[in-house]
Amino acid sequence: MSKVVFITGASSGIGKAMGEYLKVKGYTVYGTSRNPDRVKDVVFPLVALDVLDADSITKAIKEVVDKEGKIDVLINNAGKGIMGAMEDIDISEIEGGFNTNFLGPIRVMKAVLPFMRKEGKGLIINVTSLAGYSGLPFRSIYSSSKGALELLTESVSMEVKSFGVNVVSVAPGSFATNIASGRYYTPVSEDSAYKEAYSKNLKVSDEYVDQGLDPLVMAKAIHKIIESKKPKVHYKIGAFMERFSVVLKRALPDRVYEKLIMNHYKL
Ligand SMILES: NC(=O)c1ccc[n+]([C@@H]2O[C@H](COP(=O)([O-])OP(=O)(O)OC[C@H]3O[C@@H](n4cnc5c(N)ncnc54)[C@H](OP(=O)(O)O)[C@@H]3O)[C@@H](O)[C@H]2O)c1
Repeated sequence: MSKVVFITGASSGIGKAMGEYLKVKGYTVYGTSRNPDRVKDVVFPLVALDVLDADSITKAIKEVVDKEGKIDVLINNAGKGIMGAMEDIDISEIEGGFNTNFLGPIRVMKAVLPFMRKEGKGLIINVTSLAGYSGLPFRSIYSSSKGALELLTESVSMEVKSFGVNVVSVAPGSFATNIASGRYYTPVSEDSAYKEAYSKNLKVSDEYVDQGLDPLVMAKAIHKIIESKKPKVHYKIGAFMERFSVVLKRALPDRVYEKLIMNHYKL
């Protein structure tokens, strides 16, 4: 019997690429979208789920477990970008960012874990970001929500190990997806003290996503992780320099690393 994989946010980008690849590899794939009826070109079933809505999560998971009897792999992939100077971002948008990127994956894990514990096995993959390894300028909320998910992964991994469940994080670098269009941008306000620096930063960040890797690279990496007998707790998938930046952060004095990041973003 093939493994059942449940991917949140599979209507586009990385989630969609993972679903397509895993389906070809013989897995039974279910993806989710907030509006599955609007999505036309997916090759696996999409169920309705909003990570902000616990009832929609319970319903979607029940639907899959009723049909397939189990969920072997949960990929917590749904997420959103948030940009802006921390001082300028409305508190409701900050709450919304953490709600989607941090509380969202928690809600889905809470709903799936009882089924995995019953089976005595399972794999949960939390899609974080390399931006969760360093606080990036004008991405404070995104970086910190993904960094929080990295630490949560470590804690929960230890809590559920005795039930046969593995919890891992996968931090992507830049991938060419729709993330920039779905991102919340704090408007560049004329009277903001950060107007000039933020405008420059927006330009560098958008160039970066456009030059990002093919989401197929993530799909192949995820496939290897699912097939791995002893998965690691953390994975980093991206261009060499992006991954090397995490090594540099550990090796260099804080202020030297900060200077490198500020130069990169022309601050
Ligand atoms: N692309 C990158 O460079 C990059 C880098 C690092 C990390 N990541 C992470 O990778 C993951 C996938 O991003 P992507 O680049 O593939 O972006 P994307 O193309 O914008 O896809 C985001 C997915 O998340 C879903 N989603 C958004 N809000 C949701 C909510 N409240 N409830 C349920 N689903 C929701 C969207 O589905 P619907 O709109 O159909 O509901 C969509 O399928 C995200 O967690 C992102 O933070 C991406």
